[in-house]
Amino acid sequence: MSEKYYITTPIYYPSGSLHIGHCYCTVAADSIARYKRLKGYDVHFLTGTDEHGQKIEEKAKAAGVTPQEYVNNIVSGIKDLWKSLDISNDDFIRTTEERHTVIVQKIFKKLYDQGDIYKGEYEGKYCTPCESFWTESQLVDGKCPDCGREVKLVKEESYFFKLSKYQDRLIKYIEEHPEFIQPESRKNEMLNNFLRPGLEDLCVSRTSFNWGIPVTFDPKHVVYVWLDALTNYITALGYLSDDETKFKKYWPADLHLVGKEIVRFHTIIWPIMLMALDLPLPKQVFGHGWLVINGGQKIGKSFGNYVPPEEYINRYSLDAVRYFLLREVPFGSDGNFTEEALVARTNSDLANDLGNLLSRTVAMIEKYFGGVVPEAKTSDKFADDLKETIKKSVVEVESYMDKLEIGKSLEAVWNIIGRANKYIDETMPWVLAKDEAKKDELGTVMYNLAETLRIVSILLRPYLTRTPDKMCEQLGIDKDTVWDNAKTFGLLKPGTVVKKGDNLFPRIEKPKEEEKKEEPKVEKEYITIDDFSKVHLKVGKVLSCEAVEGSNKLLKFKISLGSEERQILSGIQKYYKPEELIGKKLVIVENLKPAKLMGIESQGMILSAGGGDIVKVLIVDDNVPEGSEVC
Ligand code: ME8
Ligand code: MG
Repeated sequence: MSEKYYITTPIYYPSGSLHIGHCYCTVAADSIARYKRLKGYDVHFLTGTDEHGQKIEEKAKAAGVTPQEYVNNIVSGIKDLWKSLDISNDDFIRTTEERHTVIVQKIFKKLYDQGDIYKGEYEGKYCTPCESFWTESQLVDGKCPDCGREVKLVKEESYFFKLSKYQDRLIKYIEEHPEFIQPESRKNEMLNNFLRPGLEDLCVSRTSFNWGIPVTFDPKHVVYVWLDALTNYITALGYLSDDETKFKKYWPADLHLVGKEIVRFHTIIWPIMLMALDLPLPKQVFGHGWLVINGGQKIGKSFGNYVPPEEYINRYSLDAVRYFLLREVPFGSDGNFTEEALVARTNSDLANDLGNLLSRTVAMIEKYFGGVVPEAKTSDKFADDLKETIKKSVVEVESYMDKLEIGKSLEAVWNIIGRANKYIDETMPWVLAKDEAKKDELGTVMYNLAETLRIVSILLRPYLTRTPDKMCEQLGIDKDTVWDNAKTFGLLKPGTVVKKGDNLFPRIEKPKEEEKKEEPKVEKEYITIDDFSKVHLKVGKVLSCEAVEGSNKLLKFKISLGSEERQILSGIQKYYKPEELIGKKLVIVENLKPAKLMGIESQGMILSAGGGDIVKVLIVDDNVPEGSEVC
């Protein structure tokens, strides 16, 4: 029976569609899963979605649908995205599925019954009108960061999980299992910043929102975040269900691959839960870095240059995107994402190095040997060196993959490709071809190149999902998916008939700058004069102005537009004494949809300029009558 390998990604929040940063984690896990399968492991690769919580509840409400409808829609998009990235997951768990919810309830009850979960009080700062809890650090001047009103200290009945009870056991475990938290730096961070200073018990239920798994014996509570989320790794295997076959086979996980910001939950809360359930701990939690843009910002949808991942696949091909993600981000640290770098990598590594090697080899075999791979009858020192490089590189590919250094393992594959290209320069087949007496030597060169490409096609299989098959087709061989066949040079049969095909990676010629100008959304977004004319700007005269009670930001204005009066709120209390502005003529957005701030209606907007410490309203010359149009 083959050895098992259980690998997971985090389960993603379906609070919006996913971006290229999320793809990084999933593609990395996919390459590891594919590698292990090629090596003969019985792999179980799990991903999924983390669907409960207040944020989803709010988003669904804003969208006018039920939370379940809201997540269903997004999750189906996530599944499509994984399909378009050729993610080879064996299962997809949704935390709203019954196979999960029922077991989470059982786990909660079990931990409660054995005294590891107890009822207590959660303390937090609460803004009643906004219905939001805030932590001390989120408050602005001690007030609600959203509306500026006073918050109050509330106590909410909650269940707590006794992390503290298991803390010493966990410290000991981590110290005795150096491979448990990787990379090493994250291990020290966990020990020194969190575990050794001492753990607080964890709030595991809430009553202030509903979108969650109800606690069976106290249903006004829903299970809160981490007890719901982390347990997916075992509920998906059928833990505590009628059929525990998969659980027995695959648990403990061999690898939880997670982003660096959630290492803490996976290496403190999760192992303690498992200890409390008397289950073995995962063998390794690996915290990867982020894909960042603009010199360090984590990619998110809020950026102006957001491009859906599918769009990159459409523009540059799936394997170009997968290659870039796996090659460019040093595992464990952050990597920078730019479209320019993606194009540069595709052109240099994929189109030039790999694509040209294949097309030149196939073209030469067609030209010099009628498309039939000749026998290697001679030997030369360049060939010896090529074979030596292959041998060494295959060992490197494996050892880097075993350490999860995916980028470095790809580098090792490219050493082979680079060596083979150099072999062409060294042997100069076009010169050999002019001399009938060198036919055998020429044949040897052709064989060695084709055989190298066969080996490369195997080595690429963990990373690129389309290219290896295309290579085999042009080489005229069946798909070779046996990893160990990369370790023997000479398996390709002379007599094999090659077949020229399309370029593996056509060079991307269009200079990026040009394309950028055509794209509407990047950097600068222009509007037309018609768009602008939708905004009605008018001159208004301030009749009265006072501070809004309970707010340290808002001023309330009565403004005359000549034919009518408006009540308008503006967040400029910090910059003006109310009486300063009375009688002044200002610029007003007249047709802004009225909105309520702190329960008070604001019927328009006052234009101001500046930022930071200096903000001033736009004051119009006193000769201009109120109600005049600004254009
Ligand atoms: O944290 N680069 O979900 P999530 C690399 N539901 N990785 C990134 C990234 C970026 N720019 N942005 C996000 C959650 N990620 C929880 C997990 S697990 C039991 C529960 C990664 O959707 C991030 O680091 O916010 C995390 O590992 C994963 O995407 C899911 O993030
Ligand atoms: Mg997150």
